[in-house]
Amino acid sequence: MRQPHARKHRGLADPSLLTCFLTLATTVITARTPAISDFDWTTVTPSTSLNYTSCYDQTYKCAKLVVPLDWLSPESLTDNYQNGNTSVVTLAIIARPATVPESDPRHGGTIIVNPGGPSGSGVGFMLRASELVQRTADSEELGRHYEILSFDPRGVGLTEPRADCFGGDEFARGTAWWTNRGLGAVGEAGEDGGRGDLDTVRRAMARAEGFGRMCEARNGAAGKDGGIWGFMSTSSVARDMVAIVDKLDELRKRNLAISNADTVRNGADEEAQQMIELRSTVDAESDPTPRIQFWGFSYGSALGNYFASMFPGRVGRVILEAVEDVNDYHSASWHVALMDTQHVLDHFWDTCFRGREACALYRPSDSSADTIRGRVRGFIDGLEANPAPYVSPETNTFVAVTKHDVLEAILRPLYQPQRDFPALALLLSEAMQGNLTLLYKSLNQAPTHKDSCRNNKTDPPAYTCGPDAMTAIACGDGEPQDNLTAVEFADYVCGLQRHQNADFAFLEAQVRLGCSGWRIRPKYRFDGPWTTPASDARGVRGKPAAPILFVSSRYDPVTPLANAVAMSRDHPGSRVLVQENAGHGSLFSPGRCREGYIKRYFATGEMPPEGATCQPDCEPFQECARMGGVGALTSVGDEGPDTRSWRAPRAII
Ligand SMILES: *[C@@H]1O[C@H](CO)[C@@H](O)[C@H](O)[C@H]1NC(C)=O
Ligand SMILES: *[C@@H]1O[C@H](CO)[C@@H](O)[C@H](O)[C@H]1NC(C)=O
Ligand SMILES: *[C@@H]1O[C@H](CO)[C@@H](O)[C@H](O)[C@H]1NC(C)=O
Ligand SMILES: *[C@@H]1O[C@H](CO)[C@@H](O)[C@H](O)[C@H]1NC(C)=O
Ligand SMILES: *[C@@H]1O[C@H](CO)[C@@H](O)[C@H](O)[C@H]1NC(C)=O
Repeated sequence: MRQPHARKHRGLADPSLLTCFLTLATTVITARTPAISDFDWTTVTPSTSLNYTSCYDQTYKCAKLVVPLDWLSPESLTDNYQNGNTSVVTLAIIARPATVPESDPRHGGTIIVNPGGPSGSGVGFMLRASELVQRTADSEELGRHYEILSFDPRGVGLTEPRADCFGGDEFARGTAWWTNRGLGAVGEAGEDGGRGDLDTVRRAMARAEGFGRMCEARNGAAGKDGGIWGFMSTSSVARDMVAIVDKLDELRKRNLAISNADTVRNGADEEAQQMIELRSTVDAESDPTPRIQFWGFSYGSALGNYFASMFPGRVGRVILEAVEDVNDYHSASWHVALMDTQHVLDHFWDTCFRGREACALYRPSDSSADTIRGRVRGFIDGLEANPAPYVSPETNTFVAVTKHDVLEAILRPLYQPQRDFPALALLLSEAMQGNLTLLYKSLNQAPTHKDSCRNNKTDPPAYTCGPDAMTAIACGDGEPQDNLTAVEFADYVCGLQRHQNADFAFLEAQVRLGCSGWRIRPKYRFDGPWTTPASDARGVRGKPAAPILFVSSRYDPVTPLANAVAMSRDHPGSRVLVQENAGHGSLFSPGRCREGYIKRYFATGEMPPEGATCQPDCEPFQECARMGGVGALTSVGDEGPDTRSWRAPRAII
């Protein structure tokens, strides 16, 4: 049963979680998801090797790994670090051990996961989803059991230094959030194909520039956040992953040496002894370089693509799911994301109609999905004509709820239909009956001024800086946008509305808007090409041990299937596996077929056949026996999102 969670202090939530308040009434919640703040990370000693501490009820191991701030001049890391030089990054690392001991021949090594964003917290993702990830990758049949590991990337979450443009001033951050909200959506009234409200665009761009200037002023300032801003690029994160892989290898060799010695001492049977030796050398026949096993979602697919292209000889197994188009990302054009969003929304109407009473929007008189769609559309258009007042007495807040608020509330559940459609239907149904409480709560968790008092000396600092890190990473990776004019930007929004999606263009446009005010350039920036040499399963120096496996939903709200197809074309031997469902990737849509391919790929490197497609096991709004594990994820509501984002980040959760 879900237990009420008495939080001593505010958790460090994933910045990308916009819909945490949603819970699925229809699923059984099996276990409480720990809050990030349940473990005191200040007790972990930073180290240049992986020095794990047991954490989160002994379910996980946590470590702080020290890496150079600047990978282009990393030489004196250790000396500097020991001399108290702060030109280092301390990565917060968390691992869920395999279900078999490391000395067991079925131990398949470590799979590193990234949840996307950019600026998604790996720690938060692990607490919510590592059990599901492990269950999906592990195979009894193939005798493979993996450790799952993630980390908060540079500038993000518990990794230090943290990228925080407000320097911990939560009052100022909350005020900025409200000011941005008051400004209204960019592209308002642009649906007729005109430039929309240029005045709003001009003010929004001036504010984006102000934000950028404020972050610049913090760059290099005294204190712990000094200097991180130019060192958060995806290239640096990919290089951090190489370091993690090396440290894992180092640790494993040390542990196996100890366990081998024990085995010999205890006279354990010879066969087990041989298997241990075989496994520790099997990947080293021709090249002893440690290789990665990686599963990246959403922006994590861009990270994996950078990694594989920069360090092809480090690729063991790489799955890229909910695939970002790196060319679009690197050029900062943000042009392709919404290609299939409408299909996902159509899936909502269709499955709601088929789900009948399980969908709160369904009425017995409905003759088709279109009837439901029409009713909700009428509500949205009504709000366009007449925004509705909402009063939140607990927080002494009143707002005008607009059409754009409803659209924003709709976009995020499109990421995980199986999990979030029922709650979306309830939210809309209640709003249409005049109760805007759920809708208001979904508005990126509007900050209250009470929030600004939560941070005191006994509190760990809240992680509200997702947008800061996201802007630094995405805009730094992308081509400079700081010369964009208001007219050019308005034309861009128009283009998105006309050619991508009229409803959600204003959200997609937020990323590029942020970049228009961003001038900090990263020192270490990879410019492609995003490609890998042909793989060789024998583990040949400089070559991947297996091609990349791309995984996509048929319809993805923010990373369309066309991205996966385009990225795959540039990686010889790679394949695209499609699951016939809608959603941002399919991690949360159970499907035995898809899982079978994933298990085989991790265990053997075997690819699905060309053009392989899989049916999901379940459909939203229907009873789904296989949702048991996913149910646990719905308790994310315990955590409460600390997002002050007015963006739509591309993270899986
Ligand atoms: C500081 O935080 C602690 C833990 O949340 C809380 O008990 C205490 O009342 C707070 N102090 C102030 C002055 O707000
Ligand atoms: C490893 O961590 C423990 C506990 O945090 C600490 O006492 C020890 O000094 C650390 N060792 C190294 C080599 O950092
Ligand atoms: C810290 O290390 C960096 C990189 O090696 C070096 O440039 C810098 O001068 C050092 N700072 C101090 C205070 O030692
Ligand atoms: C409005 O909805 C909220 C959340 O579902 C509920 O707690 C509240 O009682 C409702 N208010 C009214 C007046 O029905
Ligand atoms: C932006 O404009 C400035 C000033 O006109 C110019 O120096 C700079 O090169 C321009 N940058 C780009 C990327 O065009």
